[in-house]
Amino acid sequence: TTQSSPISTGHLPSSDRVTTLVAQARDRFHSVDQGKVADYIPALAQVSRELFGVCVVGVDGSIHAAGDTDYQFSIQSVSKPFVFALICQVIGEDEARAKLGVNSTGRAFDSVIAITKINQGTSNPMVNAGAIAATSLAPGNTAADKWQFIQTELSRFAGRPLTLNEAVYQSEAATNQRNQGIAKLLQAYDRIFFDSTEATDIYTKQCSLNVTAKDLAVMAATLANGGVNPLTQERIIDPVHCQHVLAVMVTAGLYENSGDWLYETGLPGKSGVSGGMVTVSPGKGGLGTFAPPLDEAGNSVKGQLVTQFLSEQLGLNLF
Ligand code: DON
Repeated sequence: TTQSSPISTGHLPSSDRVTTLVAQARDRFHSVDQGKVADYIPALAQVSRELFGVCVVGVDGSIHAAGDTDYQFSIQSVSKPFVFALICQVIGEDEARAKLGVNSTGRAFDSVIAITKINQGTSNPMVNAGAIAATSLAPGNTAADKWQFIQTELSRFAGRPLTLNEAVYQSEAATNQRNQGIAKLLQAYDRIFFDSTEATDIYTKQCSLNVTAKDLAVMAATLANGGVNPLTQERIIDPVHCQHVLAVMVTAGLYENSGDWLYETGLPGKSGVSGGMVTVSPGKGGLGTFAPPLDEAGNSVKGQLVTQFLSEQLGLNLF
């Protein structure tokens, strides 16, 4: 679908134009009914496949929302880049890279093969292995301290207190044997940095934090804004860490489909199995979307469509 799109400039179009395009984008893809709502975490299957929210937050703090942008859902893998950012901030980018890696696996998000044969470890913090290892590096000597750090700091990214979705947490905790196995395998390679069972549990809680599409847009806009939340004006991470996180998102944010995604949008993005997505347009703003039906790789079908459309129409492609 070739469309005439504006050449990328250093800023978003006018505020009114962005609001109009966000509404148009939501209407354009509203009736798309492809994909499958995730059910390997049983509680996720309860969520309506009709929900659809699209939100752009500019680095100037402007909010442009259409559809179900205040509906709360569990953040899932969209938490991964933000936790990686926080770990870089705490231990520095060199140690973070040495411990977690920054290369793509070319495989599914929960691949075990990617840990064993070639890499003997985490690969990168956007897949489960690297994300559980990143979570294990949170400051604190106890699981409670580490969890508090993650909940508090992710809330600062969103600019409001994020709460646990108890039903999703219980449901995933009862069915996360694969992640427990991944964490044990990491332990065998000396690639996890806290008790593997406790680290997996904190990671499961992290994935169960409730967010809205608007929260995701604010979090993405914070990465677009050099680490300062554009609504609260609080600095969450240093600019240099935004650059590293965005590089890893480009490489691995949509797992084995990251190349297709970059080809279509020209932007760093991250998806999650509950149907949330973030996309970052450095210096301009962040996009948060929510639409539960997923493609084969576990990425929101409508989220990808609407992001490609908005990247073109808003002139966001980095290249
Ligand atoms: O670890 C899991 O399986 C989930 N908590 C998160 C996976 C996820 O969101 C992958 N995304 N597309």
